[in-house]
Amino acid sequence: MRAKDAKTRGRHAQKAQLVRGMRGLTVFLFLISGLINVLALTGSFYMLQIYDRALASGSIPTLAAISVLAIGLYFFQGMFDIIRSQVLVRIGARVDRQLAPLAHEVAIDMPRFGYSTAEALERGRDVDTVRGFLGSQGPAAMFDLPWVPLFLVFVYLLHPALGALTIAGAFVLTCIAITTEMMTRAHASAAHQATIQRNAIADSNTRNSEILKAMGFAGAAVKRFHRANDEHLTLQTRTSDISGTFGAVSRVLRMMLQSAVLGLAAYLTIIGELSAGAIIAASIASARAMAPIDAAIANWKQFVAARMSWGRVRETVSKLMALEAPMALPAPKQSLKVEGITVASPGAGRVLLSDVSFQLQAGQALGIVGPSGGGKSTLARALTGIWPVLRGSVRLDDAELQQYADAALGKSIGYMPQDVSLLDATIAENIARLDDTARPEDIVAAATDAAVHEMIVRMPDGYHAAIGPQGVSLSGGERQRIGLARALYGKPFVVVLDEPNSNLDAEGEGALTAAIQSVKKRGGIVIVIAHRPSALAAVDLVAVVQNGRMTAFGTKEEVLNPKAAKPVTPPVVPVAPVVSKTAPADLGVPVGVKAGAKVRAVGAGK
Ligand SMILES: Nc1ncnc2c1ncn2[C@@H]1O[C@H](COP(=O)(O)OP(=O)(O)OP(=O)(O)O)[C@@H](O)[C@H]1O
Ligand SMILES: [Mg+2]
Repeated sequence: MRAKDAKTRGRHAQKAQLVRGMRGLTVFLFLISGLINVLALTGSFYMLQIYDRALASGSIPTLAAISVLAIGLYFFQGMFDIIRSQVLVRIGARVDRQLAPLAHEVAIDMPRFGYSTAEALERGRDVDTVRGFLGSQGPAAMFDLPWVPLFLVFVYLLHPALGALTIAGAFVLTCIAITTEMMTRAHASAAHQATIQRNAIADSNTRNSEILKAMGFAGAAVKRFHRANDEHLTLQTRTSDISGTFGAVSRVLRMMLQSAVLGLAAYLTIIGELSAGAIIAASIASARAMAPIDAAIANWKQFVAARMSWGRVRETVSKLMALEAPMALPAPKQSLKVEGITVASPGAGRVLLSDVSFQLQAGQALGIVGPSGGGKSTLARALTGIWPVLRGSVRLDDAELQQYADAALGKSIGYMPQDVSLLDATIAENIARLDDTARPEDIVAAATDAAVHEMIVRMPDGYHAAIGPQGVSLSGGERQRIGLARALYGKPFVVVLDEPNSNLDAEGEGALTAAIQSVKKRGGIVIVIAHRPSALAAVDLVAVVQNGRMTAFGTKEEVLNPKAAKPVTPPVVPVAPVVSKTAPADLGVPVGVKAGAKVRAVGAGK
């Protein structure tokens, strides 16, 4: 809990530092860009001085002195340019270092809320886009833009007519930049969506490579990818076309303008209004005035992409910053209370489970049965805090789940999902939930409880065996047992097992029963979702969940064998009115709790 507090405090400090540092750096970059641009007038002044002083006086020492001075100024311009580009690269790295972990934190959370993995990964890539742009030529051009008037004024001072021509050129180029911006903006966001869609298909195809091979529909999958890729390419091509066309137009215009300035200056010289040196000086200065506008147009696509990425990252990060870390609470030890919860799927918002209430005390085990699609896994997700509840509350020792900090709550919860998937790490890291300070004896204890210790030590690398992406190198049953060990690791107070025995053999099921019993004995709470009754051997309470409701709750005998059950002892309460008379198919026993029937009070049955 303290770690989480520290993390949040760290985040606030990080953000403050990021914003404060950024403002200072922007001012610095603006000023250093000013210096670079003033020094960029060197070429023009050099020309003027050569014509007006060196040639007029015919003095070689004057020419040498002017040249040495010019070389010195060019040297400083180069120095400042190097400093500016290094500062920009470092800003990029700094943004990356500070934001990438935050963006990744969000990306990890996104799939829980119905986003695709491709979309989640894109959030991480946003940081790369911003960093890439900051390291490119684009930002330098952006910082040069505010200094364009400096050159316009210089040319104007040489001759008002030249100034007017250059300003007109700058105006036309700016119009092109604005048009590029407006035309690419509409496409950029559609192109981004198309990229995500294409990546989502690629991701899902690679994940299902075994199925595609076995049933021979890799061709169809590739065709689907091909279509999405075409869409993506069409949009990309359109955006690139726009910036490419306007880029070429602006380049040609710039060259025309440069020639026009030369021509006009020559004319003004012929009619005696301008010195010969001013012809070249005007040409250099007007070219320099146009350069940043031209570069901005050339880099516009990257700029738009970086701006969109930055917007998304900033929105994400400020949301994260807004989350206050809960106060540290003692680890729960007594009860789990579920009070009238309604749960909706976070993506679509469809209500999947309504009005479920029950409570369990330390040392109790609850089995949850019911037909497929009834809402059992949904209940497990609500109990473990994976999905938020729409109404009602889930309380551990009377405190709602949100009152606990994530990391602290996680230590009190053991969860084994229906589809066990393991991280791409070693077996020990998987069991210890990536805790690098885990004690080996705790890992072995969890593995022993899940009856997987012997299997692990028989492997060539034992606990240090790497299991590959999603645990591919293990069998279904082995994965499930390691998933069980991970759920039991650290002796969490609440252990929620979603179909823990679907891939287990008799030995595994025996171990599961023993594990449930040992959690009960040490004062923990176990919730087991099961289709096969063998998993319910060690539970004392059973609940039936079907059609998104809890239709029965009571002792195992009452719920599974109502006829054999002894009369129910008070206190009694009516449980949920909607009741099916048939038991979940796989369980093969009548549920027998008729509508309005009374079963033992919530929380009773120990
Ligand atoms: N992420 C989700 N988004 C939207 N609906 C979902 C989601 N997950 C499950 N559902 C829907 O919620 C309902 C209940 O699903 P749930 O997984 O809780 O059933 P279950 O009782 O665990 O079934 P099974 O025994 O087959 O595992 C189903 O109708 C399912 O379509
Ligand atoms: Mg399920």
